[in-house]
Amino acid sequence: MGNTAERMVDIDVTDPKTGKRTITLPLMESSMGPSVIDVRRLYVDHGVFTYDPGFTSTASCDSAITFINGEEGVLLHRGYTIGELATKSTYLDVCYLLMEGELPTKAQQVEFRNEIVHHTMLHEQLSHFYRGFRRDAHPMAIMVAVVGALSAFYHDSLDINDPEQRQLASYRLIAKMPTIAAMAYKYSIGQPFVYPKNELGYAENLLHMMFSVPSEDYKANPIMVRALERILILHADHEQNASTSTVRLASSSQANPFACIAAGIASLWGPAHGGANEAVLSMLKEIGTKDRIPEYLAKARDKNDPFRLMGFGHRVYKNVDPRAAVLKENAHEVLDSLGKTTPLLELAKELERIALEDPYFRERKLFPNVDFYSGIILQAMEIPVSMFTVLFAVARTVGWVAQWKEMSSDPTTKIGRPRQLYTGQKPRKFVEINDR
Ligand code: ACO
Repeated sequence: MGNTAERMVDIDVTDPKTGKRTITLPLMESSMGPSVIDVRRLYVDHGVFTYDPGFTSTASCDSAITFINGEEGVLLHRGYTIGELATKSTYLDVCYLLMEGELPTKAQQVEFRNEIVHHTMLHEQLSHFYRGFRRDAHPMAIMVAVVGALSAFYHDSLDINDPEQRQLASYRLIAKMPTIAAMAYKYSIGQPFVYPKNELGYAENLLHMMFSVPSEDYKANPIMVRALERILILHADHEQNASTSTVRLASSSQANPFACIAAGIASLWGPAHGGANEAVLSMLKEIGTKDRIPEYLAKARDKNDPFRLMGFGHRVYKNVDPRAAVLKENAHEVLDSLGKTTPLLELAKELERIALEDPYFRERKLFPNVDFYSGIILQAMEIPVSMFTVLFAVARTVGWVAQWKEMSSDPTTKIGRPRQLYTGQKPRKFVEINDR
């Protein structure tokens, strides 16, 4: 498994330049899922590249952290199903599992929690950094900048070749992310920053930093704490998605961990990725009532209309996203316990029902993804919409960190340097300005 090939495969190629030939390549076996044709020597031995923009059939690395079977809607972290992890473990246990490969024992649980809570505070200078932003700045914009700026504050955890520094940077990132996120929110509403309280759990502390004010005591609603904990677990890692691949590519040049995670946050922000949870809510509000669903499905089907049904479709899942299945189950429970009305949830379920019967969506295997239901739950918890993707980034930090650590500790890691199919001009003579 991994970097070693176990079999050889023959591939017949008809090349207009060199004619028909058979190329024999090594095949690498996975422990689960498709085998991989090893094309690393393809150019050196045969003078051709492979072409796969968007990486639809290309494994960019080998990894032992997360497994997805998109056809069957399976998601495993270190072999455990996401459904079991979401219902039976805490977010910090999942962090430990992703980073260390095993669920923690009781002693490891205590030790890990201890490490994390002792890194929750930010260097005080960083609070001045926030004040340079406009009050209406999107908290994701602030987050990208502040996480990148951590590299200027924690010089003792920048050496990626030192395992201890890598561990320290990992703890810092997981611990500080909720503080950074909450401060971005507090800044945007003009309230004072709230320091972390280390006796609280990870999700509860995040709610405390977002919603408490110095003038009053604050006790987070336990239903909200549990719901947030579950959302954090469901978003913790997802194999080689766009933001994780961004982190890996940035890190392949040996850039420092804070810079790499900032790159991941920037990638996550896009509406085709983590920004979709925000977009789903805007879309549901725009649709408004069930009778308008057919109109929006028609827009989604229309190739001349850029509109896409947000929260639908996934590069890998061609079946129900197992995270969406957990969240759908959860949505009613959370809304009922919080005593919230459910028109948006009812609208979402009706939209899902009609879309799943629609030939356009069936043929393309477009199912609801994790973002389809997360926004509804977050909104019921009175989390501001602009914070949805920020919370996704908080949750995903451990995934980025675990993948980054796996890659940084692998001595065979090379700088990521894709090739291209050049379609531009052939060499030509320079044209002087007066002759153009
Ligand atoms: N609404 C309407 N049509 C869609 C949608 C959608 N949400 N998603 C895909 N399609 C169509 C495409 O137009 C395409 O149709 P065609 O074959 O007739 O050209 C076909 O389905 C395949 O779509 P691709 O864009 O090729 O699929 P890809 O794997 O590249 O994209 C993506 C996946 C980006 C998630 C896409 O489904 C999408 O934009 N969804 C909406 C945004 C969203 O919810 N993103 C969150 C993803 S989950 C996450 O990041 C946590």
